[in-house]
Amino acid sequence: MRKKIIAGNWKMYKTASEAAELMDALKKDIGGVSAVDVVVCPPFVHLGSTVEACKATSIAVGAQNIYWEEFGAFTGEVCGAMLTSVGVKYVIIGHSERRQFFGETNETVNKRTKAALKHGLKPIVCVGENLAEREAGRTFDVIRDHVMGSLSGFTKEDMLKIVLAYEPVWAIGTGKTATSQQAQEVHKFIRDLLLKMFDRATAEAMRIQYGGSVKPENITELVAQPDIDGALVGGASLKADSFAAIVRNSMN
Ligand code: PGA
Repeated sequence: MRKKIIAGNWKMYKTASEAAELMDALKKDIGGVSAVDVVVCPPFVHLGSTVEACKATSIAVGAQNIYWEEFGAFTGEVCGAMLTSVGVKYVIIGHSERRQFFGETNETVNKRTKAALKHGLKPIVCVGENLAEREAGRTFDVIRDHVMGSLSGFTKEDMLKIVLAYEPVWAIGTGKTATSQQAQEVHKFIRDLLLKMFDRATAEAMRIQYGGSVKPENITELVAQPDIDGALVGGASLKADSFAAIVRNSMN
């Protein structure tokens, strides 16, 4: 039985006081949840304070990116040792916004994922097609390319530490959720691909989150699908009441 995982991606939102306020409310509401894994991913500058805020709760903290080099003259970058030194446990890698605006490729996603594993961080590796690709009937080709390209060179043991997130780009921040059938179809495709790349036990054990306009109203149906193991939540993770409701509704 795969444990569900709900992660909030705060993207480039929240000042220090707003982040603290959100964490206060989340702690009260879902700080003791253990039936699903709950992760919050604030911007780098709030990681340390958010880890502090999560002490004595079951909420884990994730970063939104990681650089693959160990220390060095890489202005503006943050490495794995820095993340673990402040208590970060997860890291989102290859989000579509990074692929779209910051030149992220399968190759750089692969390097970042290797660096995360080396430092004992759990990578949340994102894959997903855009609208033009879906409309051209290329969804499965794009997903195959993202999964195989991002995850090449890993062992089965590595794979068990990785969470995959399927995020159709056309559903991110648009209010257009993939239907649970559309999402399930791609999740099943990914699991079958993992079976071919690794083996049945690995494919069955890996968690695949859905992301793209997840809300308290649609999470229950999404996680009821056999291959959907939770959600990566953007907009609805910025308010305590909606994120807490998503966490609660994922347990129904
Ligand atoms: P959204 O974002 O929930 O605002 O659509 C999801 C994501 O980008 O991870």
